[in-house]
Amino acid sequence: MTDRYAVFGNPIAHSKSPQIHRLFAEQTGQSLSYEALLAPLADFTGAARSFFRDGLGANVTVPFKEDAFRLADSLTERARRAGAVNTLKKLEDGSLLGDTTDGAGLVNDLVGNARLSLHGRRILLLGAGGAVRGVIEPLLAQRPASLVVANRTREKAEELARIFADLGPVEAVGFDELQQSFELIVNGTSASLTGELPPISPKLIQLGRTVCYDMMYAKEPTAFNRWADSQGAARTIDGLGMLVEQAAEAFLLWRGVRPDSAPVLAELRRQLL
Ligand code: ATR
Repeated sequence: MTDRYAVFGNPIAHSKSPQIHRLFAEQTGQSLSYEALLAPLADFTGAARSFFRDGLGANVTVPFKEDAFRLADSLTERARRAGAVNTLKKLEDGSLLGDTTDGAGLVNDLVGNARLSLHGRRILLLGAGGAVRGVIEPLLAQRPASLVVANRTREKAEELARIFADLGPVEAVGFDELQQSFELIVNGTSASLTGELPPISPKLIQLGRTVCYDMMYAKEPTAFNRWADSQGAARTIDGLGMLVEQAAEAFLLWRGVRPDSAPVLAELRRQLL
């Protein structure tokens, strides 16, 4: 029987994961199937358990990453810290390992694709929800000079700063406290979903120096990236590369082979335009 993989979400029809993983499989000569499965909002666990009777691995997307965290029998350290699971792998004994590859996906996109060095840099993260929590550990592993988490609801940023305090210099602030510029700003708020901007000041951008990254992507530049361009950011990047890179990390976990993400990213970009 073909090795079976899937992505769970709700909604899931427009997920690009099946295409990404099929391209990875083709490229690496692996024989596998990968399907998009709609799980009922109230029963992710039932859908996942049924799939894993013969399935070997699954990606998990909105809104089930916390359900997947609870479902996993064991967790990687990075998933434990993130409080979320986007990749499940059935181990030899039949138990489910939960991992999160989102943060590694972001860092691989920043460092590998965009060729940025994060070491010693001042990094600002906008937002303090699940998306931001998932990327703090791998960003700190790059040893930035500082990592500031700014959120509309300051307490949520403070909670994240507490969770990751032992790993590096994380500082929590409200948007109105931001006075200085940063070398890298990552938008992890869901504001872009509705075309909104977090309440950010032009002071955050140093003309021609600051790189701005939106974890979201769309056919047109996101509201955040349009704002950053208009303020003179050195460069703006969207989250399409992060999507492909998180998938590459999941593929590596499942198959023990790291696919070449560059041609897959190029193909997705071509289709998006
Ligand atoms: P996700 O899993 O995508 O991170 P989430 O956990 O609901 O989703 O978090 C959404 C994040 O976007 C939060 O940080 C939220 O700020 P609050 O914690 O104050 O709610 C932030 N957010 C959403 N819309 C926003 C907006 N218009 N301006 C600023 N922040 C926004």
